[in-house]
Amino acid sequence: MPLVTTKEMFKKAAEGKYAIGAFNVNNMEIIQGIVEAAKEEQAPLILQVSAGARKYAKHVYLVKLVEAALEDSGDLPIALHLDHGEDFEICKTCIDGGFTSVMIDGSRLPFEENIALTKKVVEYAHERGVVVEAELGKLAGIEDNVKVAEHEAIFTDPDQAAEFVERTGVDSLAVAIGTSHGAYKFKGEPRLDFERLQRIVEKLPKDFPIVLHGASSVLPEFVEMCNKYGGNIPGAKGVPEEMLRKAAELGVRKINIDTDLRLAMTAAIRKHLFEHPDHFDPRQYLKDGREAIKEMVKHKLRNVLGCSGKAPEILEEIKKNRG
Ligand code: G3H
Ligand code: 13P
Ligand code: ZN
Repeated sequence: MPLVTTKEMFKKAAEGKYAIGAFNVNNMEIIQGIVEAAKEEQAPLILQVSAGARKYAKHVYLVKLVEAALEDSGDLPIALHLDHGEDFEICKTCIDGGFTSVMIDGSRLPFEENIALTKKVVEYAHERGVVVEAELGKLAGIEDNVKVAEHEAIFTDPDQAAEFVERTGVDSLAVAIGTSHGAYKFKGEPRLDFERLQRIVEKLPKDFPIVLHGASSVLPEFVEMCNKYGGNIPGAKGVPEEMLRKAAELGVRKINIDTDLRLAMTAAIRKHLFEHPDHFDPRQYLKDGREAIKEMVKHKLRNVLGCSGKAPEILEEIKKNRG
């Protein structure tokens, strides 16, 4: 099975009210940990690559590593996605360079400019069988003292979302409902604007795939382990997993996770080096990092995203569509 787009994944996920995990990849051990987890869980996967990842590892290495993972995974539906493409050029490079899905992130632009840019990428991508994610609204945490006007200005407007999707022809839409990137998402209690999410779902075409960025839970077990073995990341807080389950229930079909991978890998490596000060072979500690990623991703696939065991129904749908 070659790399696939997200089309059939999102269709089946909508039918079954589950979400697909989109995991950020930067090196071989991260890719192997995630793909091993998906293999054991028979789950679909989106592997996503940021501009920073391309800069760190080089485009060609990441594409070849993902191709190798695909070959090693048996028959899993895996999409390769560009995360937060900031302009047409990077999207074009990834579309031409083997990706099956790209994100054009025009969320910093005024509405009409975001539409124009997204439309341009959609036209180029669709002609080449690649799907496109866009973003409307800006990610930010909900602050207790935020004014309503500010709140409305940052979060995705449901009417605008409907107009945006209709005018751009985009395949999925990332929305801002209170999540943010990184390990410090909430100062007080975690809160997401589910009422807004519901209104967005109602305004969009039936079963239109919604994407949630900044969806790491910043699992306390890994934060504590990092801090215990020499790290210093106090006050880190993420999106509680029951909120992610609720988001999937309401219509979120792609859940982006990067920070949880970083924390799992770093915690395991810190622990390893602390317990084995005599070790200096990178394979010894990277193995532990890879294993921690695998176990964390298995937990997400099974207990949070609800997509364990869903690979066969997606593969069947893909085969049906290919005739
Ligand atoms: O959305 C941000 C992702 O976590 C990627 O982060 O740009 O540091 O690779 P990065
Ligand atoms: P986290 O920082 O919450 O993992 O979000 C990742 C993300 O949204 C990548 O696009
Ligand atoms: Zn993101």
